[in-house]
Amino acid sequence: MFEAQLSSPTDWDGWRGTARRLMAAGVAPGQVAWSVEGEGGGHLFGAHALPPPPPGPMPEFRVPRAFIPLAETVILHRDPARFVLLHALLLRLQDEPRLLEVASDADVARLESMARSVRRDQHKMKAFVRFREIADDGRPRFVAWFEPDHHIVEATAPFFQRRFAAMRFTILTPDRCADWDGQAMRFAPGVGRELAPAEDRLEDAWRVYYASIFNPARLKVAMMRSEMPKKYWGNLPEAPLIPALIASSRARTDTMIEKAPTDPKPNRHRPAPVAAAPAPEAGTIAALRADAAGCRACPLWAPATQTVFGEGPDGARVVFVGEQPGDREDLAGRPFVGPAGQLFDRALDELGIDRLKVYVTNAVKHFKFEPRGKLRLHKTPAAGEVRACRPWLERELDLIRPDLVVAMGATAVTSLFGKSMAIGKSRGALLDLPAGPKALVTVHPSYLLRVDDAYKAAEYARFLEDLRLALPFLLDARKAA
Ligand code: URA
Repeated sequence: MFEAQLSSPTDWDGWRGTARRLMAAGVAPGQVAWSVEGEGGGHLFGAHALPPPPPGPMPEFRVPRAFIPLAETVILHRDPARFVLLHALLLRLQDEPRLLEVASDADVARLESMARSVRRDQHKMKAFVRFREIADDGRPRFVAWFEPDHHIVEATAPFFQRRFAAMRFTILTPDRCADWDGQAMRFAPGVGRELAPAEDRLEDAWRVYYASIFNPARLKVAMMRSEMPKKYWGNLPEAPLIPALIASSRARTDTMIEKAPTDPKPNRHRPAPVAAAPAPEAGTIAALRADAAGCRACPLWAPATQTVFGEGPDGARVVFVGEQPGDREDLAGRPFVGPAGQLFDRALDELGIDRLKVYVTNAVKHFKFEPRGKLRLHKTPAAGEVRACRPWLERELDLIRPDLVVAMGATAVTSLFGKSMAIGKSRGALLDLPAGPKALVTVHPSYLLRVDDAYKAAEYARFLEDLRLALPFLLDARKAA
């Protein structure tokens, strides 16, 4: 028996060099006991050290091109038998160069199954790493806890580095920890879960949103469990809601089925006109709001509860524009009061922006939805509906004459610029609006609630960075009412 020791569980170069040495010396895979430094094992009684390298250059062993990436993936698997299996396949490939195409071969099937398991684990890491913000040296750092099935941290870290290049983050795991300081990635030994922070400020908003989008009619418990295995639930802020939502889903679905889609009664919630209300002063936002209450420029008015007009001081220096009111806004008659509004408020708060000093409105002033029983599911407004509503936004901007307009999301961008623009390319800089004021493009707050967990904290941080550009416009608040 020969003893082969690698410097780490993912020591690909070490395995490759050792395997070539063993092959050159004609050692069969079954004659090798592989171990990893620091993991116990090794030092078998009576085992031999590796045979010395052959004199002269190491002989070449030919393998099909597909073998290298497959083997590099399989070496990340946690099964200690992977080293022997790879050695066995390397040996067999010398005589059977097309072996990898034989899916029914037991060795090949095992190799493929190990590779699938590693890839799946990497996918889970990308999806379920949940960053939480902590203050570190007075600057934000994002820390996540993850328990991988395999040795994937180093191989998967570049994904997070590319995705979150601008943010400082640490991924803690029991095997390895990855730390990105904005310039370099460093790896350190694994740690215990108690070192990972438990909560951050975004989580309440995310829970509210998750409960509101959870659709019992689409619930497939088995699929949900396999896609989001219980072992990851501890990392996910929405996890505590899941058992109760599953338990109540049958009753909620039955109710939904009983209530087949119905057109909501037009304007059910529309407040009765107050006959004696004094007419607002002409040329003010209040007058414009009163005019817009009767808008019939597109069909969206009919099923909606009411026009949801903008709100804020007539003299605001900064105007924020969203897409259209949602379910809560439609009922309340005010923009950005639902889950996306709560996230928006939180971002303003963190930047020290007083919502009462800015004007908040939407590109489209009526809620567009599709009735599903008692639910009203958001529908994106069509181009014609955005166009029909544009005069209201233009008149709001004419009256307010802000210095900066913040377009949140694609619909606001289209309405303000008269054309669609890629948000990723236009954000982070001050642009010129055709009508005069400066404009800032960023994502819609509801995107931050919807986006995959792995990206949530970083996307929120980018949103804050975008909005930070509005701060200079708010320093002189004298113009605000
Ligand atoms: N989304 C919007 O775009 N506007 C709102 O007012 C609420 C949600």
